[in-house]
Amino acid sequence: MAPRGPRALPLTPNLGAVLPDVMLADDMDDEVFRAVYQAFLRYQVLLFPPQDLPPGRQVSFARRFGEVQVHVMNQYHADGYPELYRLSNLDANGRPTGHHPDKGTLAWHTDGSWQRVTGQATIIYGEVMPGAGGETHFCDMYGAYERLDASWKTRLAGLRAVHNLDFSRTRRHGEDPLTEAQRLAKPPVDHPVVRTHPETGRKCLYLGDHAEYIQGMPYDEGRALIEELNALAVHPDLTYEHRWKTRELIVWDNRCVMHRATPYDAATQGRVIRRCTVLGEVPV
Ligand SMILES: [Fe+2]
Repeated sequence: MAPRGPRALPLTPNLGAVLPDVMLADDMDDEVFRAVYQAFLRYQVLLFPPQDLPPGRQVSFARRFGEVQVHVMNQYHADGYPELYRLSNLDANGRPTGHHPDKGTLAWHTDGSWQRVTGQATIIYGEVMPGAGGETHFCDMYGAYERLDASWKTRLAGLRAVHNLDFSRTRRHGEDPLTEAQRLAKPPVDHPVVRTHPETGRKCLYLGDHAEYIQGMPYDEGRALIEELNALAVHPDLTYEHRWKTRELIVWDNRCVMHRATPYDAATQGRVIRRCTVLGEVPV
């Protein structure tokens, strides 16, 4: 007998699946959640079709994955839920402001790599999506590691990168840097460049835009290595590019996926997302 569980239809040969039958505002029993979680581990990115999802339901779904992060950048907290983080370019009247709320998302990165305990799942609900642009792209970091040749793998073994939100935020987003209190709350942390996924046991590359330099290596040399690897990591056939419909929800695994958003015209088009990030573990 086939195991009970929702259908998961692959979005690409390698990465991502859509779960067309799951309505997240409904109660979900443990068996269904286990199947959703297994699909999350297998496909790395899960898409749920357009549906109404009240903020509290998004938070309770996120809590089933683990402890939900309360983000240091408290200017983004949403709907009375400190676990929710809203990125919006609309003013109080719903008109586009022309101001992109977070340019840092345009560079490939992995959420929460600037913390000792890094991000596990990120769960985004698309409240308003632009007609053009504002896509989210995902790339597979297992594949990125597996495609490195033996000399690269030897070179990277044991290397640790220092990840720093202040570095990535300031260079991408100079007009709205971290406050002093936010900076003190989140000092730079080091993580292995190659980590082992704690649940699948597979190795993956773990860098992205928050990685600033390599421990024990001259700063500029480490910067160059990180830039080279961040570019080498992205393979078109190991990437899923999602063009959003309003009210879709996507969950991805930050431990083995990098992501980025694509630009859109923030002066004429609205884009509003509601995000939860679930805390994972200290990478090893
Ligand atoms: Fe992100």
